[in-house]
Amino acid sequence: MIHHFKPVGVWFTTGRSMSNGYDLQDWTLRKNLMRKRRIDEAPWHGTIMQIAHTTADGSQAYTHTVPQFGLGVFLMSEPGECRASVLAALAAGYTHIDTARAYANEHEVGQAIKEAGVERDSLFITTKLRRGHAVGYEDTLEHCKKSLELLDTHYIDLYLVHAPPEDPEHRAPVWKAMEHCLEQGWVKAIGVSNYGAAHLEAMKDYATYLPAVNQVEFNPWLQRPHLKQATEAIGAKVMAYSPLARGHKVDDPELGAIAKRLGATPAQVAIKFCYDEGCITIPKSSNPARIVENLASLEVDISSEINAIRALECDYISGWDPTTEP
Ligand SMILES: NC(=O)c1ccc[n+]([C@@H]2O[C@H](COP(=O)([O-])OP(=O)(O)OC[C@H]3O[C@@H](n4cnc5c(N)ncnc54)[C@H](OP(=O)(O)O)[C@@H]3O)[C@@H](O)[C@H]2O)c1
Repeated sequence: MIHHFKPVGVWFTTGRSMSNGYDLQDWTLRKNLMRKRRIDEAPWHGTIMQIAHTTADGSQAYTHTVPQFGLGVFLMSEPGECRASVLAALAAGYTHIDTARAYANEHEVGQAIKEAGVERDSLFITTKLRRGHAVGYEDTLEHCKKSLELLDTHYIDLYLVHAPPEDPEHRAPVWKAMEHCLEQGWVKAIGVSNYGAAHLEAMKDYATYLPAVNQVEFNPWLQRPHLKQATEAIGAKVMAYSPLARGHKVDDPELGAIAKRLGATPAQVAIKFCYDEGCITIPKSSNPARIVENLASLEVDISSEINAIRALECDYISGWDPTTEP
């Protein structure tokens, strides 16, 4: 039997220095990140989760599987930046890319996938209906078709309403159109993003299929137990965006101390926390070394520091928070 080896953390051999003053010579860190794993061992790109849409009678419809770890491509706006980052991520072993129409880079995600020559069904693509486009049934269908065209793909794995449509009157027709996209096979799963508990509750009145996912900001500084519970109560998974609080918190001294004790990097601790909480986790990086570093977080055992990580909670919103809107 041929064993393939995938080096994790190969950038260390270049002598490049890491963020946050972490020393390349730190042996524990080096050992953790340089470990080689066989591809045919436990899936080294992370867990594959099942997602589904709960119906009124409590059954589950349109089940699909999602890699629990992926690359976010928000704020990759320089021409070619998203394409290069997706190529680096695919080479590192990522199998899930999270984009959105609002990021204006769906076409680069599509280009990178074609260029990498990977089979479409070995990848999971999430994209989102832009909030400003979520204004009615027909608009939603048109924008789904446009995303398929930009991504140059026959189907989207997960299509999300980016945020609750600003006009509450639009929420039901937009969701009915999302369900149509699902029934047509244009998308394999549908979900929402930035929906608060009240938005989710209201969906019970108009949804045939409840969302498979609610993508919200989630990280050690914003742990959202009530929103997580409300999301799981409708049968959806939490998808953690901004697991690094948009990079605002990677230099947090308390996180740094925890990371040092664990022999990991601060970013890895934050990412692994979201992941171990059961969230689909999609850190963004345009930096090839960090793309590898972030994937290697799946190897880090944070259990001995879980109380210290939980204590980082401070209700910190790094970007926007439509979950609290009416
Ligand atoms: N649905 C929504 O409303 C919504 C909102 C925000 C985000 N998202 C999704 O979630 C994804 C992730 O969230 P995010 O982009 O807001 O922020 P994030 O993943 O929390 O943080 C990204 C920032 O951290 C830096 N970074 C990444 N890895 C690092 C590492 N190992 N060490 C130090 N710094 C590191 C990145 O810089 P470099 O690129 O230079 O490495 C970037 O500045 C997005 O890309 C997007 O797909 C969705």
